[in-house]
This record gives sequence, C-alpha cells and structure tokens, in this order.
Amino acid sequence: MNWRSDALLPVPSSATGRTRLLSANWKMNHNHLEAIATVERLYRVLRPEQFRYAELSIHPPFVDLRSLQLLFESDRMPFVLGAQNCHQEEGGAFTGEVSAPMLAKLGVGYVIVGHSERRRLYGESVELVAAKAAAVVRSGMTPIVCVGETLQERESDATAAVIVAQLEAVVASIPADSLSKLVVAYEPVWAIGSGQPASPEDAAKAASIIRETVVIRGGDRAANQVRVQYGGSVNAMNASAFMAAPGIDGLLVGTASLDPEGYAQLIKDA
Ligand code: PGA
Repeated sequence: MNWRSDALLPVPSSATGRTRLLSANWKMNHNHLEAIATVERLYRVLRPEQFRYAELSIHPPFVDLRSLQLLFESDRMPFVLGAQNCHQEEGGAFTGEVSAPMLAKLGVGYVIVGHSERRRLYGESVELVAAKAAAVVRSGMTPIVCVGETLQERESDATAAVIVAQLEAVVASIPADSLSKLVVAYEPVWAIGSGQPASPEDAAKAASIIRETVVIRGGDRAANQVRVQYGGSVNAMNASAFMAAPGIDGLLVGTASLDPEGYAQLIKDA
C-alpha cells in the first residue's frame, strides 16, 4: 500500500525506466513500540520531496507489522510495508510460521525471501526459497529475492555460478508474466554486517548476471524491468556509489537502517 499523493509518487529513473527501491531490513531488531518511534522519527526528518527518486520499503519483525500498517495508513506515510520472510504454504499445521496471504492482508507489498541468514542459519534450500517466492507472487506481493556468494565461493571464482543457481530456481517457479515485477538483491554473504562492502563494479557485474538469467525465461522485457538491489554493509557514505552502478536500482540496508537519523541521511545522500 502506498499512501503518497500522486504528486509525490516516486519517479522512475529516466535512464532505465525502473523505479528505484530502498529497503530497510531491520532483522530481529525493534519491538513494536520502538518500530513506531523509529518510523515516526524517520518521517519527521525526511520530507517526501527529498526521496521522490525511490520507493521506500520497511521490513520490521512480524510482530510490528500491524502497528506500522495502522501508522502508515493513519498518517498517510509514504512508506511501503515489507516482511523479512514467509512460509511457502497458505495455511495449516505449521507451528510458528506466517503465510504470504496473512502478510498480504496486512498491506505488505514486498517480502524478502532467501536472505543469506535464513539460508545459512535455518538451512533454507534453493528449492524452498523458490517456493516462498512463488507464494509471495500468488498473494499479489513482490518478492525481494536475495542471492550472493560466500567468501569461499568468491575465492574459487564461483560467484556467477552461485547467483545463477540461486536465481534460476526462483525464475522457474514464478509465472513468466510476473517475472518483470521481481526484485533481486545481490548480497554477497561476506559483505553482510561485516563493514566490508563489495565494490560498485562487483554489484554491476552481478546485476548483469541477474538480468542474463531472467532473460532466458522472461525475455528482454522482463530482464529490463527486473529491479536489482545491492546489499551488504551499505552506509550513508557508500550508498550513492552503489546507486550509480550500472544496472543497480536500489539498496537493501540492514544495520544502517536501524537509526532513523542515519537512515534519513543515507536516503538523502543515495
Ligand atoms: P547490513 O545487512 O547492511 O547490516 O550489511 C544487509 C542485509 O543483511 O540485508
């Protein structure tokens, strides 16, 4: 749900025709009261005119979603609600899980799937991530699919192969006419939370591998419309260099999105 008046809707890039997307991945941080305070502060220090170049999605923990939905609606805040994960089934005996239709009902627009923390810490396979992405699409939301290599894979020159393998399964699981809506976040595992970002050149290279993978099933149109984010130690200092990298349409920001003043600065500087 986007509450911006038409005059303040994000303007697509004149160079690419794609609407840029900056996403705040809060991970397991901010309870619902902290979430409300953080968003109110962000809204206060950031005027909509300052970020017409991008959509802004905020991905809090599940338990914060209802509070933020009400806040965005009541104050007409120009943020899109996001989630960090979902279950691949629509409902049933899956203790502790949250389904995509439940998220859609809360006005969630974007759902992160396949974050490397979930692949690594919770054993999410390529097939499971693809099933989750398909569930998100079936519920009318947009998946932000995270792909990226470990340091070991990078050192053995397997970066491109890893990106292709992770993405191919997702691309195969989604109806071809939905592929153009996909968002893919290139997040090298070694760059996440490490203070050691990849280079804008690495990000640009990943973006072209991602589009080459999408083109095979989705054709040129889908490959041109897919949006690619970079994530991994993004901060206010390096954000604009990543945004300027060829083929990069946005950022997935963890640590630097938690503090509203710092994040507002990052958004203004990107
Ligand atoms: P980071 O996290 O910005 O703290 O590196 C990014 C992410 O995991 O999405």
